[in-house]
Amino acid sequence: MASSTEKKPGRRIIVRRSGIHGKGVFALTDIPKGTRLMEYMGERITHKEADRRYAAEHEHSPHTMLFAVDDKVVIDATKWGNSSRFINHSCSPNCEADEIDGRIFISSIKAVTAGTELTYDYNLILEERHTPAVKRAHACFCGTRKCRGTMLGSKR
Ligand SMILES: C[S@@+](CC[C@H](N)C(=O)[O-])C[C@H]1O[C@@H](n2cnc3c(N)ncnc32)[C@H](O)[C@@H]1O
Ligand SMILES: [Zn+2]
Repeated sequence: MASSTEKKPGRRIIVRRSGIHGKGVFALTDIPKGTRLMEYMGERITHKEADRRYAAEHEHSPHTMLFAVDDKVVIDATKWGNSSRFINHSCSPNCEADEIDGRIFISSIKAVTAGTELTYDYNLILEERHTPAVKRAHACFCGTRKCRGTMLGSKR
C-alpha cells in the first residue's frame, strides 16, 4: 500500500472551457509524444440505435458525443463517459484516436506542453455526400494554419 509520504502521480489533464468549442481537455503537465492518455468510454450501441437516438437532433446541430468504432459499433458518451468525450477536433492535432480490439484509446502524437489543449482529428465520414453545404454544417473552428474548414474527412 502507498505510504502517505509517497508522491502520488499528478493528474495529467483537466476539462475546462475551450477557445475551439464549449469545453475541451487541457494538459496539466508536459506530456511526451506517444503517451497513451485515456480510453474513449461510453455506451456501446449500433449505428442504427445511434440514428434512432440522434438523427433528428443532428439535422440541426453537428454536436455529438458519438465515436464510430467501425461499421458495427458506436460509442455513445452522451449519458456517461470520461474526459475523452470533451476532446475537441483539430486539423493539426496533437493526439490521435486508435482502435485496439474494438476499443478507442487517445494518445499524444507530439510532445504536449502543460496548458495546451488536447485535440485529435475527428476525420468524420458521413453516409451522405460531403457537399460544400454539409462541410459548412460541420465547420471547424480549430483556428490552425492548416485548418481545412470542416471536421469532415475525405471519402476515398
Ligand atoms: C465530443 S464533443 C467535444 C466537446 C465539446 N466541446 C463540448 O463542450 O461538448 C464534439 C463536438 O464538439 C464540437 N467541436 C469539437 N471540435 C470542434 C471544432 N474544431 N470546431 C467546431 N466544433 C467543434 C462539435 O459540435 C462536435 O460535434
Ligand atoms: Zn480545423
